[in-house]
Amino acid sequence: MQHTVSLECAVTENLNPFGRCERGLLPLKMSFLTSWAIIPLLLGSVGVYSLYRLLQRLRSRAYIQDAVVVITGATSGLGKECAKVFYAAGSQLVLCGRNEESLEDVVRELNRMRKGSVKTHKPHKVIFDLSDVEAVSSAAKEIVKLVGNVDILINNAGISYRGTILNTKVSVDRMIMDINYFGPVALTKALLPSMIKNGRGHIVVISSVQGKISIPFRSAYAASKHATQAFFDCLRAEMADTDINVTVISPGYIQTNLSMNAVTDDGSKYGVTDKNTAEGRSPEDVAQIVLRAVGERKKEVLVAGVVPTLAVYLRTIAPKLFFAIMAARAKKERKLKNA
Ligand SMILES: NC(=O)c1ccc[n+]([C@@H]2O[C@H](COP(=O)([O-])OP(=O)(O)OC[C@H]3O[C@@H](n4cnc5c(N)ncnc54)[C@H](OP(=O)(O)O)[C@@H]3O)[C@@H](O)[C@H]2O)c1
Repeated sequence: MQHTVSLECAVTENLNPFGRCERGLLPLKMSFLTSWAIIPLLLGSVGVYSLYRLLQRLRSRAYIQDAVVVITGATSGLGKECAKVFYAAGSQLVLCGRNEESLEDVVRELNRMRKGSVKTHKPHKVIFDLSDVEAVSSAAKEIVKLVGNVDILINNAGISYRGTILNTKVSVDRMIMDINYFGPVALTKALLPSMIKNGRGHIVVISSVQGKISIPFRSAYAASKHATQAFFDCLRAEMADTDINVTVISPGYIQTNLSMNAVTDDGSKYGVTDKNTAEGRSPEDVAQIVLRAVGERKKEVLVAGVVPTLAVYLRTIAPKLFFAIMAARAKKERKLKNA
């Protein structure tokens, strides 16, 4: 009799008085036990994860508090919001811009901010135009003289563009490359040696979704952001055996003055806030994402909705479909302009 009993019953000795296996009982007992075992397991996992997040937050806070943070384009939009969140987190700021009065306004705004428990520092201002490589080099010297070692450089300043490739002067393409690409490259190269000497540093660049995909009538802007992405990806690899971190942030549309300040084919100001920009993310939200990405030493962050994120993947996995969608978009935009 015994040899006919299933292995399940033999192992658990789950036999009835007649030596028969109680078939329904074992799975019932098992599911009862596992359902009870899963609760402490779940609670334990939540506890471990919460502890991990807490340690991560403390580590991030320590990384940013009292750190010397240089922000370019601090007079407006995302740069100004980054200034606010890093100031509130206790960083020693060096605010960079082209216009002293606008920078002073930002300093006044920071001073008016409600003070939390974190000790804040009086910000410094450095005035220079990013399109002037000589000015960038002297600004870097001024920054080092003012604050000594720079811990975090946020290359944020930038300009956008609207126009057709056919009608755009090469001088306009060059101007956009100078501000969006050569400016951050020159400032990074000027500050990198002191970071290496100091044994640590962090270079952040605000690129764009358009550093990953190209949208028609934005050629110069998309090209400058693609170049930016490529340069800082190379920098990250070259700095891998040092304590220099590189973070590339690629946002989609943000509600700032970027489209208003964009230049057109002939270099004149576009002067319009596009619908996409007006409906974009708030610069406050994106600044918080930048703060978190820096604290967590993220290598790159795509700050975009579902459609732009899908477009980024589509460009790689189904390029023909992506090109067809962009061609349709160009056709539609041209039609709207001519209407
Ligand atoms: N807004 C978006 O939809 C969006 C999306 C993706 C990425 N981004 C990127 O986010 C970054 C910040 O732009 P934003 O949206 O905050 O636009 P914004 O409000 O127009 O701010 C741009 C900042 O860059 C500065 N800047 C422009 N040209 C400069 C130059 N030649 N030298 C020094 N500073 C210069 C501006 O200074 P002035 O005040 O002197 O003009 C301003 O502080 C840019 O890199 C942009 O490409 C923006």
